[in-house]
Amino acid sequence: MSLLPISVYPDPVLRQKAERVENIDDVIQCLIDDMIETMQEAPGIGLAANQVGRPVRVVVVDVECREPGRGLLVLINPELISASGQTKSEEGCLSIPGYFAGVARHQEVVVQALDREGQRIEIAADGLLSICLQHEMDHLEGKLFIDRISPISRDIFKRRWKKKLKEEGAEAQSCLD
Ligand code: NI
Repeated sequence: MSLLPISVYPDPVLRQKAERVENIDDVIQCLIDDMIETMQEAPGIGLAANQVGRPVRVVVVDVECREPGRGLLVLINPELISASGQTKSEEGCLSIPGYFAGVARHQEVVVQALDREGQRIEIAADGLLSICLQHEMDHLEGKLFIDRISPISRDIFKRRWKKKLKEEGAEAQSCLD
């Protein structure tokens, strides 16, 4: 297993729609192991493959520290089956380090996916797990939580982010998507 570098906004891979996994082969198994290790090391509660530069439909989630009993989840080709209610909570993202904002999400979701053995699993979630699943599945569509905040908040974020990138000596970003 090895730690993978996490792609940081505005890396274009974060905007790519991830491709379905057709074969859960050794390459995918290795990716899953590396993603788990990378998420735990960060530390984070969820990671989508886009975030490590691999636009394929693989997500790992671990909210055990906040919601004991859920354990570590590996989801391949996850699909939203149903969603209900509304909730708003503070979110962050390993690809947008240091920025947090309130995001509206569904309260409860049911998600179907394959696990790493290729077995179909169905997860009914509320609370943090529900939010985390929605956040990670957004990643697979090339979507980030900053797309779900108000236009004013997004403008402020982009100004701050440009400044931060400049201070860090990153290449000038003329436009943040
Ligand atoms: Ni994220």
